[in-house]
Amino acid sequence: MRKKIIAGNWKMNYTINEAYDFVSSIKDLINTNEVDVVICPNHVALERVYDLIEGTNIKLGAQNVYFEDKGAYTGETSVNMLVSAGVKYCIIGHSERRKYFNETDEMVNKKAKKLLEKSIIPIICVGETLEQREKNEHFDFVSTQVKGALKEISENDVSNNIVIAYEPIWAIGTGVSATASQAEEMCKFIRDEVAKLYSQEIAQNIRIQYGGSVKPSTASEILNKEDIDGALVGGASLTNDFVAIVHYE
Ligand code: 13P
Repeated sequence: MRKKIIAGNWKMNYTINEAYDFVSSIKDLINTNEVDVVICPNHVALERVYDLIEGTNIKLGAQNVYFEDKGAYTGETSVNMLVSAGVKYCIIGHSERRKYFNETDEMVNKKAKKLLEKSIIPIICVGETLEQREKNEHFDFVSTQVKGALKEISENDVSNNIVIAYEPIWAIGTGVSATASQAEEMCKFIRDEVAKLYSQEIAQNIRIQYGGSVKPSTASEILNKEDIDGALVGGASLTNDFVAIVHYE
């Protein structure tokens, strides 16, 4: 039985103090064992948030990492640095990073491997544009992203140590969520792709989230779908709506 995982991607929001205040106000309300809860603040707020959630069931996630160990890479953050801040999950390949920072499938794959070396769970984001969906190219596109991201990653890691987040670009920050059946259709497609690449057993273990305008009013229908194992929440993770999403029924 796959445990649901609900992660909040704060994107570039909240200063250190704002992060502290917000997490202080919700942490007791989202400290549950029913689902895995992950909070992904910006890098400068990581450590402060970790101090607050240490010893709870809430896990810390980062929003990006670089795939080199150390050295002259101005502005970048290594996996070891994330480990030292208490990070357990890291979002990679978010469509905003692909769009604004030219992140490619090859880079996503390198980042995933580097994170796995240090036991941080990559949350690998995939998802199509509206144009691709309208041209019926969305399955091929997402399949390429999944294959690129998982290249040479072991069966054990795919089975136990990776999360995939299906985030259709047209649903991110638009207020227009994919319907639960559109989300389920693609998450099932991704699971079938993993079955083809690895095995049916591994495909049944991997957790696949949906992300894109998830709100308290849509969370239950989405999260009760068979192949949707959680949510990657953007805007709603910055407010008390996140509490309601974590406690969806
Ligand atoms: P919204 O929930 O704001 O649409 O963002 C989704 C997202 O990009 C999470 O990574």
